[in-house]
Amino acid sequence: MPKFKSVLVTGGAGYIGSHCVVDLLNAGYDVIAIDNFANAVCDDEGSPALRRAEQITGKKIAFYKADLLDKPQINDIFDKHDVDCVIHFAALKAVGESMQQPLLYYQNNLLGMLNLLEVMRSHNCYQMVFSSSCTVYGEPEKLPITEAHPTGSITNVYGRTKYFIEEMLKDLSAADEKWNIISLRYFNPVGAHPSGLIGEDPTKEFSNLMPYMSQVALGKKPVLTIFGNDYNTPDGTGIRDYIHVMDLASGHVAALKVLSDAHGRLKVYNLGTGRGVSVKELVDVFQRVTNTNIPIKYVERRLGDITAMWADATLAKEELGWTAQHTIEEMCTDFWRWQTMNPDGYAKKQKTTFIAVNGKS
Ligand code: NAD
Ligand code: UD1
Repeated sequence: MPKFKSVLVTGGAGYIGSHCVVDLLNAGYDVIAIDNFANAVCDDEGSPALRRAEQITGKKIAFYKADLLDKPQINDIFDKHDVDCVIHFAALKAVGESMQQPLLYYQNNLLGMLNLLEVMRSHNCYQMVFSSSCTVYGEPEKLPITEAHPTGSITNVYGRTKYFIEEMLKDLSAADEKWNIISLRYFNPVGAHPSGLIGEDPTKEFSNLMPYMSQVALGKKPVLTIFGNDYNTPDGTGIRDYIHVMDLASGHVAALKVLSDAHGRLKVYNLGTGRGVSVKELVDVFQRVTNTNIPIKYVERRLGDITAMWADATLAKEELGWTAQHTIEEMCTDFWRWQTMNPDGYAKKQKTTFIAVNGKS
């Protein structure tokens, strides 16, 4: 049984949050989840994603529709529950939107975090895992990227909110030794829970590769545009470190264990596989394992895109005892299972079978 009992998960109805909740429940934690549905599907009874997380685990979640910008509401939730630790996923994350509406992003992500930290402190809760991103590194000076790589040279507002929060956490943990925080810098999360019951279903516009490619494979979008084939990489397309969302989830469970066993004040870890995969490679694997055909068209590079980035995940291995387990094939198969069982996401009833993967269904 873990030393912490109850974990409050902000942004719990979202993509990574809902997957992490499954692992937290399976690890024996009581989960209190909050979300304002800024980017998650909501119905009359709350979050369909979290109800399915309950179905997968056979355990209950205490869920609140709540906004981190509404401090009294967050305070009430902390009054009701004895929270041992917070995992803070809630944020807005669309790079393009962040450039058009910087104040919205600074308000939601920075003020949301400030409110949360103040409410935590007033309830004597000083343990937190924070969702950071490899975006804080900007264009890498050296590959693979270790946690010691300089941060802050970022070209978009969303990324800067993550960087500013990391800086704020440094100041906070330096000023008050009670804080015990782990910031996890995720590389590129993809895939879905292997049950096909939960997956990625954003309500805002998205442009990330894996969900877009799946929409093309489903015939909902005509063609996948690949942004640039003239990069200085072996096949000319951009390289990323794609990581299965269930590996990310287990990374959070590992981080909680370390937080409860040791007081590191503020630690930062990369969560990645350590392997770079090009756009073209990912598209090829996806087509092969899902038995689909994805029409592609090469277009100009996307403004602000990085050529190549992948993690050095040694520190997480040494200090969290965590390494990513899932292959690129599993990331594609699991994402496709979710998409084909739920072609309209959470909005519609799921199908009981999914479209053949390698001829099997
Ligand atoms: P997501 O949008 O699916 O989940 C975030 C959730 O937070 C959403 O359900 C949203 O409704 C909620 N939320 C936003 N603002 C809120 C507020 N003020 N109050 C309450 N709830 C609020 O995104 P995700 O992919 O699950 O990402 C989770 C976290 O991981 C985010 O902080 C994101 O920046 C970070 N991250 C994501 C990626 C990625 O590619 N998915 C990569 C690196 C880091
Ligand atoms: C994006 C965000 C980044 C965030 C990361 C997390 C941007 C500019 N950056 O990065 O802040 O931390 O997600 O997952 O959005 N691609 C195509 N065609 C497409 C979509 C993508 O060729 O339709 C390519 C991109 O050029 C890139 C790769 O696929 O080389 C991955 O793209 P994407 O999934 O959007 O992630 P990132 O660009 O890494």
